[in-house]
Amino acid sequence: MNNFVSMKTIKANEIIKLLEQTDAFANGQSFDLSSRKKRFIANLFYEPSTRTKMSFEVAEKKLGLEVLDFHAERSSVLKGESVYDTAKTFASIGAEALVIRHPINNQVQQLAEALDLPVINAGDGAGEHPTQSLLDLYTMYQEFGAIKGLNVLIVGDILHSRVARSNAYALKALGANVYLAAKPEWKDQSLDFPYVDLDQAIEQCDVVMLLRIQLERHQQSKDIKASAYLTQYGLTVKREQRMKKEAIIMHPAPINRGVEIDDKLVECQRSRIFKQMENGVYARMAVIHQLLNKGESRHGNDYQTMFAYAH
Ligand code: CP
Repeated sequence: MNNFVSMKTIKANEIIKLLEQTDAFANGQSFDLSSRKKRFIANLFYEPSTRTKMSFEVAEKKLGLEVLDFHAERSSVLKGESVYDTAKTFASIGAEALVIRHPINNQVQQLAEALDLPVINAGDGAGEHPTQSLLDLYTMYQEFGAIKGLNVLIVGDILHSRVARSNAYALKALGANVYLAAKPEWKDQSLDFPYVDLDQAIEQCDVVMLLRIQLERHQQSKDIKASAYLTQYGLTVKREQRMKKEAIIMHPAPINRGVEIDDKLVECQRSRIFKQMENGVYARMAVIHQLLNKGESRHGNDYQTMFAYAH
């Protein structure tokens, strides 16, 4: 694995390897990638972020890396510098890997092909969000001990959601059953997964994953009536009461409380929303470790993983 840009193209065994490493970090393994010299990684975010950017930074620092922070709005982007030239600049001054979030679909994948250092996709437009998917998979694994055979219902703004896309591809690769539910105009027919009725599917699923309404990507009306949306397509308390006893609630966040999910459910016993954020640090450590650990560094301990996610 030279880059981490898509869950559509990555092989299942590579996802499993990353999940095993995520588990090792979640269980206390430490690892120093810069034991002999300072090593730098750059976070290039061209779109707002709280969780992804900050958890990458925590992951990078836990691995002993020096973090080059970048704020597009205070950079030479304002003088017209392209994303490619910006990325080349960071490579030239010593960054060994780039974490990139960009509003244009496929932009990060194109950069990964053009550059000769590892690139990690931190979200490209409505394309993919593979590290979010990795942390989501790990959260499901923690809960159920396997991914294969899980029934996962993804609900909401599918058309504009990079989280839905990455998760659908990865879950399928690992043998889960993926079902989608959305308003008719938010269905993405290019995704080869069945659309189901939310009220029928809610009783059958092990995981109900809600999506943020991506207003910033909507071409048409941004006038969403919160209470009407919650009643029709959101997770209400009534729907939550019909979920299977062991089923869990997930949401990549940020959350529109009272729109995609009733405020009372955000931190309920079934919710794993803040657990997902915690796991984001371990998943991102695993990705960086996989890309930058070329035998130059030392282990903090010798944690061994022992399970296969797909079985
Ligand atoms: N889930 C997620 O990508 O959140 P941020 O936009 O805050 O990074």
